[in-house]
This record gives sequence, structure tokens and C-alpha cells, in this order.
Amino acid sequence: MKMKSQKLSDFRIMNDNELSKKILPQMLSGIAFLAFPEQSQLLLSELKNRFAFDERPANVYGDLYYFEDKAAFLEKSAGKLPYWARTVMLEPFLLNFDSIGSAANHLKSLQRNWAPYQYTCFRRAQLIQEKLPYINLKERKFPVEIPQSQIGLYSLIDEHTLIASAATSSFLPAGTLHFIEDHENPPSRAYLKIQESLTMARLLLASDLPSSGSSCFEAGACPGGWTWVLVGLGASVYAVDRAELAPSLMNNPLVKFQAHDAFTLTPEEIGPVDWVFSDVICYPERLLKWIQVWLESGLTKNMICTIKMQGEIDWPLIAQFEAIPGSRIIHLNYNKHELTWMWKSIVN
Ligand SMILES: C[S@@+](CC[C@H](N)C(=O)[O-])C[C@H]1O[C@@H](n2cnc3c(N)ncnc32)[C@H](O)[C@@H]1O
Repeated sequence: MKMKSQKLSDFRIMNDNELSKKILPQMLSGIAFLAFPEQSQLLLSELKNRFAFDERPANVYGDLYYFEDKAAFLEKSAGKLPYWARTVMLEPFLLNFDSIGSAANHLKSLQRNWAPYQYTCFRRAQLIQEKLPYINLKERKFPVEIPQSQIGLYSLIDEHTLIASAATSSFLPAGTLHFIEDHENPPSRAYLKIQESLTMARLLLASDLPSSGSSCFEAGACPGGWTWVLVGLGASVYAVDRAELAPSLMNNPLVKFQAHDAFTLTPEEIGPVDWVFSDVICYPERLLKWIQVWLESGLTKNMICTIKMQGEIDWPLIAQFEAIPGSRIIHLNYNKHELTWMWKSIVN
């Protein structure tokens, strides 16, 4: 009997220790940025050139870059986060787990919504995701409304360890939004950019989507991917470019086309419009001046413009876009070497 009870208590002590090792997360003092696919260099260059943060990442997990000193980063960035991070693990921890169930249970105990970012152990991550409450990770059909609910991010770094954070910087799963593509009707793939911009303006600025009765002015519209989305929502579009749009749009009664330099038409010549768009390839300085003319005119309520980068990014200039009240800059999943500036009037 004596022998047996000793063994039992030994077993209990061992089991408790083991259990605490397996399910207790190790909080980390750092911060982890998830780069857009194949855009890690842009993230690293932004950290260095925008924030003067040139620490080397302590760990790199696929496109996820972990830096050890969050406090040092936040001090240098004045609390701002990089545009070229799809999402950010704001309070990362490591979790060592023995089974798929225990990993999922631990994440669930922290909050409902979790999305994976995987670069290894894909099957195991999928099994964990299946045990977590459902979130939509599929391609979305535009228009879609994204809820403002916190969504955690986790990534398996080996079979028994994950890095995760319940607090992240994006409401999108792993900062990712992809639409079901239409390979036949849009005149250019740029339509995906305006679909994402409008979705994000709705999410971040509470902008209403253009709809039947809305008026839009669009600079640099050819061949017409953005126009195609806007008229698809029922809006009318005054499109300006040096080159004509696709014939189906030129014949659309909701489209008025003018062959002109969009930047030399004044807001007064165009008249009041609900939305102003620009996807013109031009120097950011020129775009900023044009935006200021529109804002000063008071003749529009919403704007979405692509800031196209030419070589090295002029960060102080980007800060001037960011400083415009009521505006946001984001890097879209469908942006390349460019950022998207969006603005909604705060005056009703
Ligand atoms: C990237 S493309 C626009 C693609 C378009 N958003 C779409 O969805 O199909 C840029 C366009 O800007 C036009 N562009 C460049 N400078 C312009 C200017 N000053 N005024 C009007 N259009 C201009 C070009 O002719 C080109 O068609």
C-alpha cells in the first residue's frame, strides 16, 4: 500500500509540472510584424527609414518578423505601426502544447476569434483551426462588411510550439482580404484595389459605399477597373483620363468620359461630387497638392487615392498625407509599391 500511494503522489506532482509547462504561455517582451507576401523588404525598409528602427529581428517565421524590444520600437515610432505590416502581434506569447486540442483550448480561453498565419506545419495548424470557433477565411464576394471585432493571430513554429497574440492591429484574419475574382468582365485587375479600398473605408472611416444616386469623379480611370466597380454599385462616374475607357464603359449611361489632364480640371469645373478617386501614376507631391485643392473646395465628401511610390519613399511627405484630419493611409493586400490614402469629411 505504501509503495502504491508514493507512486500515485509522484505521478500527480509530475503531471502538474508537466501540465503547467505545456499550457502556460511564455509572455514575450517584443512585437511581431506580419509582412505582405513577397514584400518583407518593404516592411524592413519602412521600419528603418520611417521609424529609424534598425534592430535586427530576433526571429523570422516565414513572413512574420519578431523584434525583441517592443518598448524601443514604440518609442521610435511614436506609437505608429508600419503600413507594410498586414497585421501586428501586439502582445505576443509562446505556447508550448502537447496536443492540437490543448493548443485550441488555450487560444479559445483567451478570446473567440483567431486566425492562422502558416509557413510550416500546415496540416497541424489546420487541425487547430478546425477546433477553434468558425471565422471566414475564404475569398469574399464584394461588397462585404467586415465587423470591428478583435481577431488574434497565431503561427505554429514547430509541432509543439506556437507564437500568438490575442491583440493585433487588424480586424481582418491575418490582415488578409481577398475577393472572389471575376476574370471576364472587369477591364483591368485594378478593380480589386477599389473593392478593397471601399471595404476598408467602410470599416475604418464608417464611409457608406457609393450607391445608386451617388456621384463620383475619377482621375486616371483608363481602362476602367475602378469605374466598372463604381457603376456596378449603381453610382454615376465622371471619368477623366488621356485615354478612353473600355468600350462597354464608354457606352454605359452612368459613365461620362472626358479626355483631359485630370489635375488641371478644378473642382469648381467638375462640381460637387460624393466621391473623388485617383489612381493616377504621378509624384506624391503632385497628388497631395491636388488633394488639398479638393479639400479646400469643400466640394466632395469622400476621397480614395493611390499614392504611387517612385523609388525611395519620402516619409516626411507621406506624413503630410497622414496628418490630414479624417484621413487614413493603409497598404492594401492588392497594393504593390504604393499606399492608399482615404478620407471622409467630418462635416455633415
Ligand atoms: C494605373 S492606371 C489606372 C487604372 C484604373 N484605376 C483602372 O482601374 O483601370 C493610371 C492611369 O492614369 C492616367 N493618367 C496619368 N496621368 C494623368 C493625368 N494627369 N490626368 C488623367 N489621367 C492620367 C494614365 O493614362 C493611366 O490610364
